[in-house]
Amino acid sequence: MRPGILPALLSLLSLPAFMSTYANRPVSIREITEADIPAIRRIYAHHVEHGIATFEMTPPSEEEMLLRYRRIRAEDMPYLAAFDGDRLLGYCYASTYRPRPAYRFTVEDSIYLSPDQQGQGVGRQLLQALISRCEAGPWRQMVAVISGEGSEASVALHEKLGFVHAGNLRTVGFKHDRWIDTILMQRALGSGCDAPPPATMRSTLASN
Ligand SMILES: CC(C)(COP(=O)(O)OP(=O)(O)OC[C@H]1O[C@@H](n2cnc3c(N)ncnc32)[C@H](O)[C@@H]1OP(=O)(O)O)[C@@H](O)C(=O)NCCC(=O)NCCS
Repeated sequence: MRPGILPALLSLLSLPAFMSTYANRPVSIREITEADIPAIRRIYAHHVEHGIATFEMTPPSEEEMLLRYRRIRAEDMPYLAAFDGDRLLGYCYASTYRPRPAYRFTVEDSIYLSPDQQGQGVGRQLLQALISRCEAGPWRQMVAVISGEGSEASVALHEKLGFVHAGNLRTVGFKHDRWIDTILMQRALGSGCDAPPPATMRSTLASN
């Protein structure tokens, strides 16, 4: 079968956004549960200790990861993972971009894969699912804050999914004995700023 034929056939069948239709690494994607937190923590701990994609310096405990997960779910935001059978390959979630209430229609995405799963299309499937989930909610912009060094895969992934560069911040991080820039990218969700946000949410969330 020619490359690209399978995804095209699957998309003709109008599969729901959550079924993977892309790439050579078939995965299933679903909302995580609390039982997935230990596997997620292991992946994140690797990136905290060995990478600069996150500016966190010490791997958080399982309890802390659970609290963070509950905070995201309390905001009704998606927290997804990709699986091959029972194995969790990577995860992504949306979180509040900044806490002040006028930012409430803007989310930030975070995405991390197990190091042996990178470069096989898993990130693209995960982030696409996250975007679809957020577009079904009230959010209108998604922001990515990407480490400016060794981030080719992340920048490429976000570009492929419609993000545009929104700016650079120079040397705002210091990790593994070096200064690190951040790249900001953003993407409209749904109608973006072409229409006002849902009337019921225009003021009700503004509590401070
Ligand atoms: C960044 C990350 C999530 C990307 O996921 P991935 O599964 O490796 O990426 P994919 O294989 O889905 O690739 C997505 C696109 O980026 C391109 N790409 C992937 N790696 C690339 C690289 N190193 N250089 C250039 N382009 C690259 C792919 O060609 C693909 O484009 P295509 O769909 O047109 O072929 C993953 O590599 C990762 O977990 N990295 C470490 C943590 C991290 O940086 N997280 C992001 C924090 S903002």
